[in-house]
Amino acid sequence: METDPLPRTHDRLTRRSLLVGIGAAGGAGAMYAAMGVLGLAPTPRTAPVPAVGGAAAPTPYVPPQPSDFSLRGGRPASVLVLGAGVAGLACAYELGKAGYDCTVLEARDRVGGRSLTLRGGDTVTELPPANAAKGAATKAGETQQVTFGEGTYFNAGPARIAQWMVTLDYCRELGVPLEVFVNTNASAYILTEGMTAPVRARTARADAYGYISELLAKATDAGALDSRLTQADKERLLDFLSRFGAIGEKSLAYTGGERRGYRVNPGVGPGTELGTPPSLTEVLSRNLGRMLTMDAGYEQAMPMFQPVGGMDAIVRALAAKVGARRIRTGTRVTRVTNRPDGVEVEVEGGASLKADYCVAALPPHLLAGIPGNLGADVKAALATPVPLSAGKLGLEYGVRWWEIEDRVYGGATETDLDIGHIWYPSYGYHGERGLVVGYYNTGRDAEVYDPLPHRERLRRGLAQGRRVHGVKYGRNIRGSVSVAWRRQPFIEGSWVRWPSMSGFSLLQRPAGRVYFAGDWLTHLIAWQAGAFESARKVVTELHHRVLKEG
Ligand code: ALA
Repeated sequence: METDPLPRTHDRLTRRSLLVGIGAAGGAGAMYAAMGVLGLAPTPRTAPVPAVGGAAAPTPYVPPQPSDFSLRGGRPASVLVLGAGVAGLACAYELGKAGYDCTVLEARDRVGGRSLTLRGGDTVTELPPANAAKGAATKAGETQQVTFGEGTYFNAGPARIAQWMVTLDYCRELGVPLEVFVNTNASAYILTEGMTAPVRARTARADAYGYISELLAKATDAGALDSRLTQADKERLLDFLSRFGAIGEKSLAYTGGERRGYRVNPGVGPGTELGTPPSLTEVLSRNLGRMLTMDAGYEQAMPMFQPVGGMDAIVRALAAKVGARRIRTGTRVTRVTNRPDGVEVEVEGGASLKADYCVAALPPHLLAGIPGNLGADVKAALATPVPLSAGKLGLEYGVRWWEIEDRVYGGATETDLDIGHIWYPSYGYHGERGLVVGYYNTGRDAEVYDPLPHRERLRRGLAQGRRVHGVKYGRNIRGSVSVAWRRQPFIEGSWVRWPSMSGFSLLQRPAGRVYFAGDWLTHLIAWQAGAFESARKVVTELHHRVLKEG
């Protein structure tokens, strides 16, 4: 994603280091006061903000604090936050810590936005398929009743957190307990259209690595790469390949081995290996590139983490800190107007609320449709990101057959079928029931499932899953629910794609007194971490402005 990064401060290093040091110890107000003394008080646009792009090291985040006002004067302002998703709640939480008077307006009847964890007793109502693309549609479509048993939960939205993400810092700060999310599992399966039957990931990997190593080793040995490799390079490369692909030391051939797995596991006896691998041609025809590199990406590498008991533990904790009386659910925003001395927000039913500032943390495609006076350029920028489709199917089984019969404990089966992935639960091992994510698909695959009623999604998802697991996949199902994010009211998309980056920079800046926040304004689209990073940036800028303007 190409972006136009925000300008950054490049102050003289010594003074800058001093300021950062003071800021870290005493909050943004102390830093600001010190900058004033040094004649360096920044404008809001050059104040240190968390990184949104570019190569410069990010400035450590310093939350607004009440002491900032006692040191600098002024008072915390009032802020209307539109949207109680992760970005909106994080803004209200961070500003609330410094005494800001925040009110969060949320159109849905629950907080969390896409951070949606479903349990028995919940209902899921979707927009009718034809309305989903029109924006701000309120007519209800199908409603599903979730009938899962006690202790079963389904993360229909975000489900995994990488170690480097700021989301984990919020889990620590909020006291949200974590456990490992098994993102990849050598015992899970791979099934592509190029395969006649599923194979375990470990087997597919052993064969692919083995043959690739054989080809490269033989080409190296035959001198085909002599223009690139010294004799020492060749020896080192051959040594590496013998381990990488488990190829014969002398023959350089891949003939299989224990990495492929066992038909009979070793124990008292030596076990029986799976045997001879398929031919090179067959392995290449499997189209395994994506399947074997899923965890190579920076965002997906193991170990990953999940909150114990459901992802919504994070938004629940944030909402509790913000305070229920400051969050108005079931409140749809109908107009946003910048006034010279504040912001006026009208809500459905005709009421109008006023505050000094506003943070709009709604999906951009919905914000674009809300009347007001934000300006034609802002409207055009908001209308630029394209909302995308993703869907998930939660299947509760009365028996954990994937553990008992298949010896798969967590992780995912990767396919190029329209179901995308099948996820096995990373919680409740050996329990009575278990929640399998029967599909997690995106893009064109998700668009196939989006318009279907739940029973059709279920039928189709089960038919595809049976190709991996056989008939047991359709048995012992205790309950199911599916979510098509394009059809979720007041969300209408899984995440967005910027077809061009025009508008990305504009929306990093406030339109008058209205700021914008969300994962869609970061390089971490589709991650809660993006929402948190964006919230931190907006909160920092807004706080600096309040300190400056009084
Ligand atoms: N963050 C999303 C995922 O992990 C895209 O699948």
